[in-house]
Parts: sequence; structure tokens; C-alpha cells
Amino acid sequence: MKILLYSAKNFEIPFLERANKKEHKIAYTRDALDSETAIQAVGFEAIVLFSGDDASLIVLEKLWELGVRYIALRSAGYNNVQIEAAKRIGFKVANAPDYSPYAIAEHAVALLLALNRKVVLAANQGQAYDFTQDKLIGFDLNEKTIGIIGTGGIGKVMIKIMAGFGCKILAHDLYPDNSLVDKYGVTYKTFREICSEANIISLHIPLTQDTHYLIDKTLLDLMKKDVLLVNTARGAVVKTKDLIKHLETNTAAGYATDVYETEKGVFFLDNSKTGIQDSQLQKLLSLPNVLLTPHQGYLTKEALTNIGEITFYNIDCWAMGKKSSNELWD
Ligand code: NAI
Repeated sequence: MKILLYSAKNFEIPFLERANKKEHKIAYTRDALDSETAIQAVGFEAIVLFSGDDASLIVLEKLWELGVRYIALRSAGYNNVQIEAAKRIGFKVANAPDYSPYAIAEHAVALLLALNRKVVLAANQGQAYDFTQDKLIGFDLNEKTIGIIGTGGIGKVMIKIMAGFGCKILAHDLYPDNSLVDKYGVTYKTFREICSEANIISLHIPLTQDTHYLIDKTLLDLMKKDVLLVNTARGAVVKTKDLIKHLETNTAAGYATDVYETEKGVFFLDNSKTGIQDSQLQKLLSLPNVLLTPHQGYLTKEALTNIGEITFYNIDCWAMGKKSSNELWD
């Protein structure tokens, strides 16, 4: 099969090449998919996308006209694909679920620890030979209450890790998993209850119409003033504008995030020479109680290996005229 892989990054190409055991013909483009770059897919039956690629209606229509029939996502989330339109037009679309829930949950823990224990500030101060400790006070995680929002693949691993820290664990999910109650003493509660009770809230839900801007002023007002919010899910689950106000007025203690609501065109690129135009992102980055990483939760060798293997499992199925078990609809 002839495949065009959008948003290609140098570091992932060796992993993808290794996984391409059936030797499909792959072309790589560094460009993200959008209405202008869709034309690059002429002559390709399949495209491979990442989370920053835009597969909205107009783009999907162009791709279909150009002869593209298969879309493989090398991500678990698929909020960037207009699913109903893709289905109606006739595409086959598959994602890469569960490639390593450990990679993302461990990154969420890294963010939480680094923000709480002021690791970045301490390291920056140390580089300037300032070894004072006045600004470096955090809190014990032991016996604190953490709210896990979304107890799917990643949320479950997060629960296991936080149970090891001695946290009291509250959780919320559309479909509670009772095995977590027995195994880790998890208590399922409403989202509002968690907001008012938790010292830490960690997000592990997909971005959907229901979860878009789920965390806004109303819910932030319910939270404890010293709450730490961790987001390795998707940026737009949080209404950044409202959160910034709470962070500025110290009615939320901190935000550790791997994602941002308008990542496209900024994340995954080196903007160090040009700067960025997004004043909201500039503001967020300027706050001392914010720690932001550039959507790197998936960046472990294991996750990259699995992403490659799942992507080519999906493509191999299609090349053999079979259905992939990761297709997004029956
Ligand atoms: P999953 O599908 O295994 O779990 C998601 C859970 O959220 C499910 O249990 C589902 O029932 C629950 N859920 C969905 N909508 C909900 C709602 N409105 N209210 C309450 N619960 C709801 O997904 P997984 O693998 O755990 O991933 C979660 C999210 O993490 C992905 O959708 C993706 O956006 C993000 N992600 C981020 C990465 C990163 O690099 N930062 C990498 C991989 C995933």
C-alpha cells in the first residue's frame, strides 16, 4: 500500500520503519494535514496522522477526491478527526489505542512531582548558583486526596501509581470499574464532588463534545484553593482563560500540563527564534505556578515501538482486505 505519513518527526521514523515489516511504500511529510496540505496525498491510498493533524469535513472531502481511502492514527485520541463525516464519506479509520498507558501516566506523575516539589525552579536557581530554599516548599503526597477523571487505560495506571504514594483515591468515569474499588480502595464520585474534595485532580478523559471546556470557572470555583491540576489528556478539556484567572489570583495553586487547547502550529515546532503569537499561551507560560511540557507523554521507546506496530497492524489488515480491530466503528 502507498502511504503518506503527515507531521513526521525525525525521531519516530526509525520506529515506524522497523514496524513496516510488509514493506509498504511510505512517504513522509513534516507538514501537518490541513486543507492546504491535503493535496500532498494525491496518489496515496492511506494516510497516517498524529494528534495535531486536522481531518475536518472539508479536508476529508478533499482526501477522498484524491483517492485516499484509509486513515491510520498514530495516536489514541481521535478528536482531530470528524468521525461522523469520515464514516459517511466511506473512509476506514483506525487509532492506536493502549500503546503504553504507562508512558502517559508516568509523565503525569513526573509533572505532578516536578510542580509540587518545585524541581524546575530549584534546578534553574541552582544553575545560577542560588541554592536558597525559600520558594521550594511542596507537600507530601502521602494521605492527600487525588481525583482521577477517566479510569480507562491511562487512568487505571495512574491509580495504581498514586495508591503506591499512599494517596486517597477518588475517581469519576461514565463507566466505573468496580475492580479498582476492591484493589486500590477507589471511591467513585460525581465530578463536582471530586472538585470540592480533592487536593490533586488528574485528567484522563478523551476530548469530546461533552468534555470540551469541562473545567471552567464554575468547577474551578468549587475546587480547593491549593488544588493542583494535572492534564495529560487534551488541552481543550480545560477552559484555559478561566484557569489563568484562578492561577493569577491563587484560587488554584498550580497547573501541570502536557497539552494546550490550541497546540496546532505551535507545539512540535521550534519557535525559539520566531516567538509565538498566542497571547494566552504566552500568559500561561509566564505564570510561576504552571509547568507545561509539549505533548510528550507518549515519548518513551516502548510507546514509540508500540505506536509503530499498531499503526502497521492496522495498515496490514487493510492491505489484506481485512477489518482491523482498532477501526473506530463497525
Ligand atoms: P481510554 O478510552 O482507555 O479511557 C478514557 C476513559 O474516559 C474511559 O473509561 C471513558 O469511559 C471515560 N470517559 C469518556 N468520556 C467521559 C466523560 N464525559 N465523563 C467521564 N468519563 C469519561 O483512553 P486512555 O487511553 O486512557 O486515554 C485517555 C486520553 O488521554 C486520550 O483520549 C487522549 O486524549 C489522552 N492521551 C494523551 C497522550 C499524551 O501524549 N499526552 C497520549 C495518549 C492519550
